[in-house]
Amino acid sequence: MLTETSSLVLDARARHGGVAAFNAITLEHAEAIVEGAERSQRPVILAVSHNAVRYHGALEPLAASCLALARAADVPVGLHLDHVEDLELVEAAPDLGFGSVMFDASTLPYADNVEMTRRAAAVLHARGRWLESELGEIGGKDGAHAPHVRTDPGEAVSFVDDTGVDALAVAVGSSHAMTSATAELDLDLVRQLRDAVPVPLVLHGSSGVSDSGLSAAVRAGLVKINVGTQLNIAFTDAVRAGLAESSAPDPRPYLRSARDAMADVVARLIGVVSTTAE
Ligand code: G3H
Ligand code: ZN
Repeated sequence: MLTETSSLVLDARARHGGVAAFNAITLEHAEAIVEGAERSQRPVILAVSHNAVRYHGALEPLAASCLALARAADVPVGLHLDHVEDLELVEAAPDLGFGSVMFDASTLPYADNVEMTRRAAAVLHARGRWLESELGEIGGKDGAHAPHVRTDPGEAVSFVDDTGVDALAVAVGSSHAMTSATAELDLDLVRQLRDAVPVPLVLHGSSGVSDSGLSAAVRAGLVKINVGTQLNIAFTDAVRAGLAESSAPDPRPYLRSARDAMADVVARLIGVVSTTAE
């Protein structure tokens, strides 16, 4: 059933656990995300990124598919629009069923980031939806590869206060689009941020973190755990294997394998992040 992101994230925080958000690029991704959640009988957040919108050339076709899947699911499914860089998409989100948007002005100077984020917050709050934002650039996206960057707790508190964001993505050692789980998170910093910042904390670039690292991150205070690349690895590996196995033109056998492989990853990671905090 379609559920507000806010209620999924706040419920997870209240039980000292986490909720996983997965990026959907294709219909098969979205189907796999819902299937993995149903198999786990736990909630999930289905995320569509601005980059996926650019890939499809429009938001509505994929968003409508995600909305239909969320409504038909037998577990709670939230819809989230991720890494949005323009206000037009923020404005379009509520009517398409998105309960939350991550507005990404993190590469702007602090004052401009605050100003743009406040505008996005005003748009979403007027519709009763959530805004997530980011402080302390998370490395590896659009050439901003800087895994050493960290979010300062004092700045994070001021940023939340200045902008009115409802959830905050923090830089604590992860980096986007990693294909091996070798990132080491700064768990002491996560605990400091958890204790200082009033809103739930979000981890981006979670594919670079091991399952035990993700579980420890949730125990230390991260709540929304965003995963993209792990699904793409499962998808692409399965398609490669399927194509090597058969030269038949019908894409359904290898797309079905890809969807099954992604659903396995979703179910596993939902279990990993549902752990209880220390
Ligand atoms: O915005 C995307 C998420 O942060 C996922 O990152 O692809 O490195 O898992 P990832
Ligand atoms: Zn991200």
